[in-house]
Amino acid sequence: MINVKENISLKAHNTFGLDVRARLVALLHQPEDLMPLLEHYRDVPVLFLGEGSNVLFLEDFDGLVILNRLEGGIEILDRNRESIHITVSGGMHWHDVVRYAVEQDWQGIESLALIPGKAGTAPFQNIGAYGNELADVLTACYAIDTRTGRNLRLRKEECGFGYRNSLFKREPGRYFIHRLELRLYPGRRPQVRYRALENYLTERGIKHPAIQDVFRAVIDIRLSKLPDPAVTGNAGSFFKNPVIDRRHYEELKQRYPDLPAYPAGNERVKVPAGWLIDRAGWKGFREGDAGVHPKQALVLVNYGQATGFQIYKLAQRIMADVFDRYGIELEPEVRIIRNATKQ
Ligand code: FAD
Ligand code: EPU
Repeated sequence: MINVKENISLKAHNTFGLDVRARLVALLHQPEDLMPLLEHYRDVPVLFLGEGSNVLFLEDFDGLVILNRLEGGIEILDRNRESIHITVSGGMHWHDVVRYAVEQDWQGIESLALIPGKAGTAPFQNIGAYGNELADVLTACYAIDTRTGRNLRLRKEECGFGYRNSLFKREPGRYFIHRLELRLYPGRRPQVRYRALENYLTERGIKHPAIQDVFRAVIDIRLSKLPDPAVTGNAGSFFKNPVIDRRHYEELKQRYPDLPAYPAGNERVKVPAGWLIDRAGWKGFREGDAGVHPKQALVLVNYGQATGFQIYKLAQRIMADVFDRYGIELEPEVRIIRNATKQ
């Protein structure tokens, strides 16, 4: 049976750096150990945690936190002339997977560089950045269905992926993801589909970028505008980019001619929440130690001693203001974790 510790601070286990405590904490090294652990703590609320880079704790967690410390690395399943099929342990740090693929000259995930978190969490919100998302390369993932105890191999089509969404996110706590299968493309040239990335490469005279060029460019751009959680607590984008009707967008465009938009199919468009929040005057706002990052308005930050509740209050003020100004309801991307007994 796994060693379970009591009354543990989660400060080092969430990138907002919030000093909340968990009643119980277990480190999970092997997927086989999960069900016996859950059966032993049958009536205790459970939270899976990777690196805590997409959660906001509002208070102490009165339950069992299971930290993903899965062992193992990358293995090749098969390769043909065009592609390579690999499996990745869910315990790997996601950026290490990206770095390894780039070193091998395997194309497919270079634009997902420097996204914090575990590989096992990546399917939870279908991580994405700079024109790509995990679902572009994931072929399957292995997850334990905690309701039945069964170990499932879910094909990509069964994972219900959407923009920052999946089957796993729709039922948090039900599935524990422990292994991914990815298809990557040795030597293939990347296609650049993101304006900021395109501009970066063009400014440096790179017309036909290699995998390594995109990898370095993404790292540079990210370092220039996203705060480093080791210095300033944050969880990346706090809100999702909203998808609205084209008609609503056309109305807003009359008032805000420079409002950017990206097609989202079916007479719908995605608008950048960072732009909406920035234009509403929140960028750089600070109250106590809770604030809006001065270089990226979509990122809420903890300058040191803010509580989860204070950050949440700030998020709610921003949501109310964005609704008043634009008639758009923002939805948090970050998972809000309340006291387990109140859930
Ligand atoms: P955690 O925060 O530990 O967990 C997140 C959620 O997943 C929780 O609900 C948890 O219960 C659940 N969970 C954790 N492990 C498992 C598991 N094994 N099985 C099932 N459920 C599980 N995200 C992007 O998509 N794109 C970005 O560009 C991006 N940039 C970021 C930049 C910064 C500076 C930061 C701090 C965050 C950024 N993020 C981004 C968000 C974050 O990196 C991702 O959501 C990441 O996948 C979270 O991984 P984690 O292991 O830290 O998850
Ligand atoms: N913008 C502003 N002001 C700001 C921030 C953004 O005007 O303060 C404008 C930018 O000028 C640009 C647009 O908004 O026109 C988009 O900005 P950016 O390229 O920075 O991307 P984003 O939409 O804010 C999304 C993801 C990020 C991902 C980047 C790059 C979401 C919720 N966020 O941010 O993901 O890294 O694109 O692809 O989709 C995360 O999920 O945690 C995350 C960081």
